[in-house]
Amino acid sequence: MRFPLLFPAFLAISSRPSSISAFSAPHTHQPAHSSTRLFTSALESLADLTTLSIDSGSIDTVSKYAKTGLITDATTNPLFVSQAGSNGDARYEAMVMEAVAYAKRVTCSQDGCPVPDETLNLAVDRLAVNLGKELVGLVNGRVSTEVDIRLSYDTMGSVERARSIIAMYEEMGVSKDRILIKLAGTWEGIQAARILEKEGIQCNITLVFSFLQAAAAAQAGAYLISPFPGRILDWHKKQTGKEGYPPDSDPGVLAVKRMYSYFRKYNYKTICMPASWRPSRGASVEGSDVDEILALAGVDEMTIPEPLLDSLSSLPPDAVTKQCDAVADGASCTDPDFKLTEESYKKYWGADDCGQEKLKEGIDAFTVETEKLIKILIEKF
Ligand SMILES: *[C@@H]1O[C@H](CO)[C@@H](O)[C@H](O)[C@H]1NC(C)=O
Repeated sequence: MRFPLLFPAFLAISSRPSSISAFSAPHTHQPAHSSTRLFTSALESLADLTTLSIDSGSIDTVSKYAKTGLITDATTNPLFVSQAGSNGDARYEAMVMEAVAYAKRVTCSQDGCPVPDETLNLAVDRLAVNLGKELVGLVNGRVSTEVDIRLSYDTMGSVERARSIIAMYEEMGVSKDRILIKLAGTWEGIQAARILEKEGIQCNITLVFSFLQAAAAAQAGAYLISPFPGRILDWHKKQTGKEGYPPDSDPGVLAVKRMYSYFRKYNYKTICMPASWRPSRGASVEGSDVDEILALAGVDEMTIPEPLLDSLSSLPPDAVTKQCDAVADGASCTDPDFKLTEESYKKYWGADDCGQEKLKEGIDAFTVETEKLIKILIEKF
């Protein structure tokens, strides 16, 4: 029997553990697994190298992709939660009404709700948890749930909200190891992660646009970071006036590579999971929509929105070649493992124009979504 040239291109649904079993196959000349087959698309060959997750708040979309076995995790964010709050679909409407009823029951008395903000905030969190619980039922991996973005500069405020979110999940029978708490990549958010991780609550540091944020998150013991190569590219394009870059010198791709290399060189366990993708070569170049994804193939994990999952499904499997490798990239890292303090962090941050601008933009956009959601919830009370 001849083994396929694409070896180890056997089907390995959620990458790491199963690709190990595929590896042992050629020695025994036995089929690796009863489900062994050649990849039929770039999406499948990518899923063999990198654990994939979908960025969608739609139960139907997540469910559709979870069934392919190619995506492992899912996420909520203020935009998805706000969309769930306003879209009128009966399933989301039920989640909203439950969240409102719950918040009233817990924080109000017959005479009314003494601290309306507390009631509303609890309703927001409860809605995120209701949506998250639904997603937990659809994927095998983890579901991220965001702490109120308005607490991005408040460490203890974030810690308390995160604990309460986890408590609500556990009350519903969802174990905390199925959940990641999402915190914005501010110094304060990263320090909240440091505290939560010690309590066994794992965190996803989001809105990461700079190496500095990534290094601080790793040093704080964060479980995962989500850098945004696409938005980093946007910033550089605006700065330089360039139309595009070759994917392997795209500044967003290089930034993520630098973070990944640092994690691997110094043995930080933090997972590097980029999200937010743009065409490196510019939107006018055909097929460029997945440039950054292909240039980072092999990174620990990726979050990919539906249209790009579809693009990858229509490309041949050999469009994907491994571009990130723990050993090789770790060896190529030239950054020192400089231990950051609040003082040194804030000093460097003051000089990080891309990080500052993009982080602020991200926090502002999610703040708008959260405020929209609160308006919707007020109407439901
Ligand atoms: C972590 O957060 C990012 C940014 O919102 C998201 O794209 C990603 O899917 C999350 N990761 C997991 C494992 O939920």
